[in-house]
Amino acid sequence: MAILNRREFIGGAVAATGFMSVASAADDRPLRLGLIGCGNYGMVNVNAAFKAGGVQVVAVCDVDSAHMNDSADKIEAKQGSRPKLSADYRTLLEQGGAEAVIIATPPQWHALMFIDALAKGLDIYCEKPLSYDVREGQAMAAAAEKAGRIVQIGFQRRKSKAIQQAREFVREGGIGKIVQADVQIHYTAGLRDTTVKSPPATLDWNAWCGPAPKLPYCEQIGHFAWRLEKEYGHGHLVDWGIHLIDATRWILDEGMPQSVQAAGGIYYFKDKITTPDVLTAQFDFATCPVVWRHRLWGAEEYTPEVSNGIFVYGDKGTVFVTDNKWVVIGKGRNAERKVTEIRSDMGGEHMQEFLEAVRTRKQPICTTADGHKSTATVKLAMIALETGRKIAWDADRQDIVGDAAAAKMLKRPYRAPYKHPFRS
Ligand SMILES: NC(=O)c1ccc[n+]([C@@H]2O[C@H](COP(=O)([O-])OP(=O)(O)OC[C@H]3O[C@@H](n4cnc5c(N)ncnc54)[C@H](O)[C@@H]3O)[C@@H](O)[C@H]2O)c1
Repeated sequence: MAILNRREFIGGAVAATGFMSVASAADDRPLRLGLIGCGNYGMVNVNAAFKAGGVQVVAVCDVDSAHMNDSADKIEAKQGSRPKLSADYRTLLEQGGAEAVIIATPPQWHALMFIDALAKGLDIYCEKPLSYDVREGQAMAAAAEKAGRIVQIGFQRRKSKAIQQAREFVREGGIGKIVQADVQIHYTAGLRDTTVKSPPATLDWNAWCGPAPKLPYCEQIGHFAWRLEKEYGHGHLVDWGIHLIDATRWILDEGMPQSVQAAGGIYYFKDKITTPDVLTAQFDFATCPVVWRHRLWGAEEYTPEVSNGIFVYGDKGTVFVTDNKWVVIGKGRNAERKVTEIRSDMGGEHMQEFLEAVRTRKQPICTTADGHKSTATVKLAMIALETGRKIAWDADRQDIVGDAAAAKMLKRPYRAPYKHPFRS
């Protein structure tokens, strides 16, 4: 595939948006990107960047040489030049020649990579969750504010037209006063082999674990499957549910909840995973309570069309919204349901917005502070579950109040030689 140069890219953007910055119009070369984490979603992001155009991936980094080589092959086939390879992200930041980086490693690595990339003056597309723990997220948000670089966090559901339209409808009073919201993603988890074994020869498992505890390797906590491991992905709500919690916060125009409680546990996948396969969490936002539910096993739901989505309940009606559809349920026995089905290229548009922002220097929609709030919100639910207590959050002080043991869980000690970036 030919690389679109900046002028061609901007031409497309102007056609789409009718907007062009004078400074960017003069600049004719492709934007140089680096990719850290060449797994499943790293390449989804790279392909989204290619689709947007005007980019060249100049460097890739992974601690699994097989993933890195495979990505380099695919990138070379698309752009005609091979990116530089490095097993250590610091080498990519020092020598890769990138102007912006995509961070798509598992979450335990995000904080260090993000803060180091900012220190090198780079713009960043960072995947969700923003961080592994809440204090990392706080340090990242502070560093981003200070650095003033362009940052987009990977909550691409903000580009769902269904979610955008539902949000507008709710915010214009379409369902009256908002009283409650329910959010859920139920799915049947397919687990991998849980037998402890040697990691693949191409994978540096010690480096993969990084600042997180180094657990004995098995496929169920390795590539892609780490999501349901407490020390890495921290479970379904933190990994996937966080998208809908972010969207709900956005629909409600909310910050963080004032308190959180949670109940659930591992009822089906005992001794196989370390995060809940049954969970209910209640987030008390100023607007209304938001209840999250998930179940990771069993038959299809009684109403499968709402297994993945958000209900917002108002005193005059209800809205149900999912990625490509939103429904208004009127009040009263014979009220009609208004169904709108509308598809979006969420990831494509989210990346395109980032690339445009790098050129125009106008911050895109999902800032580090936003990513931090959504990440901290779901993390508080996991702290509530683990402590078995209702957690009260003071947004001004960014702290759990009245529960010193729970507050301590906002920061996980780093494995040596790594140093936690939160300093106080
Ligand atoms: N926005 C979305 O919809 C979405 C979807 C899927 C994944 N994600 C996010 O993307 C990130 C990656 O997820 P994934 O599904 O691609 O996981 P994955 O396991 O498929 O890929 C992660 C890659 O990072 C590499 N890696 C680990 N430590 C590294 C290090 N220190 N340096 C360089 N590379 C390292 C791994 O070897 C692997 O190749 C996660 O944060 C995940 O939550 C987002």
